[in-house]
Amino acid sequence: MKTESGTDILKAAELLSRDAVVAIPTETVYGLAANALSETAVVKIFEAKDRPFFDPLIVHIKKSDDPARYVSLIPDIAKKLMNRFWPGPLTIVLPKTDIIPSIVTAGQDTVGLRMPSHPLVQQLLELVAFPLAAPSANPFGYISPTTAKHVFDQLDGRIPYILDGGPSTVGLESTIIGFEGDEPIVYRLGGTPIEDIETITGKIKMQINLSSNPIAPGQLKSHYAPAKLVFIGDIELLMNQHPGKKLGIISFEKEWNASNIILNWVLSKSGNTEEAAVNLFRAMREADNSAVEIIFAEVFPEVGLGRAINDRLSRAAVR
Ligand code: TXA
Ligand code: MG
Repeated sequence: MKTESGTDILKAAELLSRDAVVAIPTETVYGLAANALSETAVVKIFEAKDRPFFDPLIVHIKKSDDPARYVSLIPDIAKKLMNRFWPGPLTIVLPKTDIIPSIVTAGQDTVGLRMPSHPLVQQLLELVAFPLAAPSANPFGYISPTTAKHVFDQLDGRIPYILDGGPSTVGLESTIIGFEGDEPIVYRLGGTPIEDIETITGKIKMQINLSSNPIAPGQLKSHYAPAKLVFIGDIELLMNQHPGKKLGIISFEKEWNASNIILNWVLSKSGNTEEAAVNLFRAMREADNSAVEIIFAEVFPEVGLGRAINDRLSRAAVR
């Protein structure tokens, strides 16, 4: 199969209407999309990314859609979260309606819903008559793509079309929130900071670092991983512990100098965690594709998107 890349939403819509899989841009990361209401189409997503069938997919809806078509019960707090954060990087997991095929949810009776804010994907959703099931557009377990080129580099030949919407403006996957009864629980840290969510929910429960039988494989300890070894901590200390290696350094604001540093990605010179998030996955990919032997990453401040950045880095560091 030849993989094309471009900005033709009519072509993307036409392919999706024929049950094909198309890579789509979103504000968080690129997704691998198919008609969420068609089992035939959704199977192809799992095949294209070698994703295990036990891992449920997020369903992306358009702004004018009614979430009640897809979820049977919406607690008040969920409604408030939708009003405040949609469209945007927040996925809300709720009991599904029968319209969602069970392959989408890996047999679970809940579905993750998200209303993406990227204008191109919203236009696309308006053109098709169905919501889009989409995981991140990377081979299972690898770093999520934040540009059309990242998708192409890994999925060339596996999908017919990549809709190019430019670099993702958030750079981290959505924050995922589920419910136990009326109580909201964070399953995955992501593009919507916890502090912002807590302005609506009050202090929120976290269920994040499960390492076996996770509810969300984004919770798997080793995930989002580059092929090279990643160490997190104080850079100077790490340099002393691993002398003589060709280093790649992912730092927040500060540039590091030493003769064995091959590459140093300063994610935000101005110390802004949102800007750092935009650059994180690109830096991890570049490190992976370079002559760097090991990657050292700083611990980011646990504020704003810093928490989600630390979460991704620590999963990348697990072997
Ligand atoms: O920002 C995002 O969320 C991106 C873009 C493309 O929308 N999507 C994304 O999808 O990151 P994925 O499949 O790579 O990660 C979604 C996570 C998975 O770990 C999955 O297990 C979890 O969401 N998930 C989906 N449905 C769920 C459900 N019903 N209950 C619990 N977790 C669920
Ligand atoms: Mg993923």
